[in-house]
Amino acid sequence: MNQDLMIRLFKSIEGSPSDDIVKVAERIIEEESKNGHTKVATRLKDILQKNIHTYTSFQGNLKSLLPKGVTIPTDKRYNVPLATHIEREKLRYEMILPDEVEDKIKRIEKEYVARERLKKMGLKPKQKILLYGAPGCGKSMTAERIAWNIGLPFLKVRFEAIISSYLGESASNLKKLFESLRQVPCVLLLDEFDFIAKARSKGQDVGEMHRIVNILLNLLEDYDAPGILVATTNFEGIIDFALFRRFDEIIEMPKPSKVEIVKLLQQSLSSINKDKEINWNVLGLKLRGFSAALIVKVAEDAAKISVVQGKKHLDQKHLLQSIAENTIFNKRK
Ligand SMILES: Nc1ncnc2c1ncn2[C@@H]1O[C@H](COP(=O)(O)OP(=O)(O)O)[C@@H](O)[C@H]1O
Ligand SMILES: [Mg+2]
Repeated sequence: MNQDLMIRLFKSIEGSPSDDIVKVAERIIEEESKNGHTKVATRLKDILQKNIHTYTSFQGNLKSLLPKGVTIPTDKRYNVPLATHIEREKLRYEMILPDEVEDKIKRIEKEYVARERLKKMGLKPKQKILLYGAPGCGKSMTAERIAWNIGLPFLKVRFEAIISSYLGESASNLKKLFESLRQVPCVLLLDEFDFIAKARSKGQDVGEMHRIVNILLNLLEDYDAPGILVATTNFEGIIDFALFRRFDEIIEMPKPSKVEIVKLLQQSLSSINKDKEINWNVLGLKLRGFSAALIVKVAEDAAKISVVQGKKHLDQKHLLQSIAENTIFNKRK
């Protein structure tokens, strides 16, 4: 290919290292270099590096994740960081979801990837997402999966560090954190952010907590960082109108249906030898109302039962025993 053309093409490439387009570009560089065109190869590599720079550098430690001069602020008294970085290798991302939920999440990811194109049209990707639903249905995991899929670093706000028992400090902690992340492209998780509302009943100064809730609402409203903010809550009741309008997307994470239950079991047992006679349909019916987390546990416990018994295959009996033993954990029907 003509060199100028190739350079122009490379300048238009943008994305994370896991994107196909970036991988293809790397292959081209390799080819060029193999063919002895080292100068062009170096030039193309530089161009590509610039466009995926923000993403690759995030995969190291927290320091390399942040632009120069920016650090995650810490609590003044105890010096604990107000957010934690979870490394890419530790992110959970293999999810089983109903199609309509999967589609909504995919759309968020696609809009983010297309953000430059959207910007040219005066449009913005969905950036502020609220996930709600029962515990163990994949809310936190969804935030991790978004970060994994779009190649952004993952930061989790530490509310326990933010809420200080010293008057006025909680609010300034929150502000400090959001201010420091203003320029940082990342997925920022506010996990179980109703924690703030709950802390109110634990003997915190009511006035102070009220201020913090308001500050959080304002920070949410003004959030305009180059990443995605995901808030989660187990309580539907928390979603009042004031909160509602501050998010670009609100998604309910439902308990898995029969189809998803079977997929969850099979995914969790994919590396285990299984009896061909397992009746997935019956298991799917028995596990209705269980959270995804509990279904994964049922599968793992069944696998353990069969291994401990020294069986070659996991069979229906193991799964039924595990369901019986785990039913006690399924409090919320
Ligand atoms: N949709 C899902 N697909 C696959 N596994 C899931 C799903 N939802 C939850 N899990 C399993 O349950 C565990 C807990 O999920 P999590 O996202 O922490 O739940 P939540 O934040 O809603 O309480 C995960 O580590 C995973 O094993
Ligand atoms: Mg969670």
